[in-house]
Amino acid sequence: MNRLICKRCGAAYLLDDSRWKCDCGSFLDIKFDFSFDMEKIQSRKPTMWRFREAIPINKDANIVSFNEGFTPLLELTVGAKKLLVKFEHLFPTGSFKDRGASVVISKAKELGVNKVVEDSSGNAGCAIAAYAAKAGIGCDIFVPEKTSPGKLAQIQMYGANLVKIPGSREDTAHTTLEAAKDSFYASHVWNPFFFQGTKTFAFEIWEQLNFNVPDTVIIPTGHGTLFIGAYLGFKDLLNQKLISKLPRFIAIQSEACAPIHKMFNEKLKEVPRVEPKETMAEGIKIAEPLRAKQILDILLETEGEVIIVTDKEIEKSLFEICKIGLYIEPTSAAAIAGFRKYKSAAKEIIVVPLTGHGLKSTEKVLKILRQYSK
Ligand SMILES: Cc1ncc(COP(=O)(O)O)c(C=O)c1O
Ligand SMILES: [Zn+2]
Repeated sequence: MNRLICKRCGAAYLLDDSRWKCDCGSFLDIKFDFSFDMEKIQSRKPTMWRFREAIPINKDANIVSFNEGFTPLLELTVGAKKLLVKFEHLFPTGSFKDRGASVVISKAKELGVNKVVEDSSGNAGCAIAAYAAKAGIGCDIFVPEKTSPGKLAQIQMYGANLVKIPGSREDTAHTTLEAAKDSFYASHVWNPFFFQGTKTFAFEIWEQLNFNVPDTVIIPTGHGTLFIGAYLGFKDLLNQKLISKLPRFIAIQSEACAPIHKMFNEKLKEVPRVEPKETMAEGIKIAEPLRAKQILDILLETEGEVIIVTDKEIEKSLFEICKIGLYIEPTSAAAIAGFRKYKSAAKEIIVVPLTGHGLKSTEKVLKILRQYSK
């Protein structure tokens, strides 16, 4: 039966319940049964919604979409090694978060919601604000005050109410939890519908590889919304026997803030407290990843690993990737830096997403350029 489910206490709720957390306080996941019809998929437009059967929105009329997704997958050579890069920076708002936002806001529309709240280090806020604008739904976006100005401008231009919170990303999250008590919380972390969007990343790769699975995916990970979504997608394919194995999942974290790395390497049961330092990879500077245990389980199940990268390594990879004509933001370059450090086997098929567009972080890029011209 299709349900919102709580893995902590075992509670189940209807998919049309507008709640975003369990009565026990834990986050929820979605159990949704479907099966793919390959012909139908290929007869549809090349967007993430071509995998319509997999996405738990009841009525097509409620879908809020800009025809996003089906992003290109291209072979590149970096550091003398081949990889496939997926152009997630080409989404309408400039990051992969549009996958989740399209589904969460579609659900909000389906539920008749007239206002949503969201908190973000920037990109998820941009995505939710854009899709809320398209749906004509009101929107409050809470961000840390130090968020890149480009992202703040983008959120405001979509007409969202921007609320800047002093302090850390965690201070923003805590403030939003209060605001979310009596609103629809379109959180990319709490709301399980977000992951029903990010899972389409896996379906697209599968189709683009001629209905095959890559050996490895390397994903920049803060809260893990792409990491977990990609896993859910490949797991759906495995459950339907459309692939015969899962890829290895490699999480990339910044050395400045690496709670998952510590948790994984030290075999901890709970996510450890870490004191985040400054890093140019603002998108993965997440000290308290809510779904840390879920990320850890995926790492264990797929025999994956966590690789940490320094700002120097990110900077180097940013230059390297931009020099071949791809303009991405520093958080995205972290994944390329991680790929460089990853010890791959011969002929291993590795997919790395370019998660965010460079135009989002002009002032960070200018700072790097100024340092180099000294
Ligand atoms: C460009 C970019 N890449 C990666 C991430 C990491 O996403 P998550 O925190 O869901 O793991 C983010 C998050 O904001 C991002 O903006
Ligand atoms: Zn529960």
